[in-house]
Amino acid sequence: MDQAKLKSYLANDAITKLHVFSEIDSTNSEADRLISAGATGIQLVVADSQSAGRGRRGRNWLSPIGSGVYLSLLYPFSIDVSALQGLSLVSAISVHTAIHNYGAENVQLKWPNDVLVGDKKLSGILLELRSFADENWVVFGIGVNYRLSEEQKSLVDRPVTDLHEILPDPPSIERVAADITNRLLQNISKHSESQFSTFQTAWNRYDRYLDTDVMIQNGNQQLLGRYKGVNEHGALLLQTGDEMQQISGGEVFPSLIAVSD
Ligand code: BTN
Repeated sequence: MDQAKLKSYLANDAITKLHVFSEIDSTNSEADRLISAGATGIQLVVADSQSAGRGRRGRNWLSPIGSGVYLSLLYPFSIDVSALQGLSLVSAISVHTAIHNYGAENVQLKWPNDVLVGDKKLSGILLELRSFADENWVVFGIGVNYRLSEEQKSLVDRPVTDLHEILPDPPSIERVAADITNRLLQNISKHSESQFSTFQTAWNRYDRYLDTDVMIQNGNQQLLGRYKGVNEHGALLLQTGDEMQQISGGEVFPSLIAVSD
């Protein structure tokens, strides 16, 4: 990772500190350590590889050198945690926009924060909240597959794609990391002004599962229904019979059974 190049692509001086590593356990874990050590201001942690990259629900995130963008943006909020609702989806929208702007086709979103291309996962996001010294820190951990070998792809327990598969001539890793960070910073400001409602239409436009039958898995609970997109707070809307349920946690799977009409 060329730190000077990355720095020159970052759009504004909102970022007070940039931490670049050739290898780290996890950029999110490093973010956590920085917060505990009394970090101030918005900071960015980027690595060429992670030895213990973390995914959602305790999964690993495969992070070999040169194969992905691995970054964590540390953002201190002095507002109540309830006002942070929807930021997870906003992160995915930010990644989506950056990749879409490179000319990639069929880039879609999967609630709450995956980016897919042709049903294969391109990017995953791990948001972590840390309350420290009167501030609510959000760590936006973003991973984007850049160039994975067939062997590396086979090590992941779900279909995955990468920027080299979906674009004829992808930008450099530094460019991708900066474009996503710039977009995310812009969208965080927008979210602070008007919450998730300004993003609702964009989300529903690109949602992979809109108006399809899905199964929502939340812990041991499974719910079947027709997926109706997200509401103005970013909660998932699931139609089960005559009822519209608002769901704020869990994972979406395509349903193998037709559930409603
Ligand atoms: C998911 O399970 O989809 C979320 C994956 C998040 C991976 C990124 S890579 C950068 C940051 N550091 C981590 O350890 N995880 C996130």
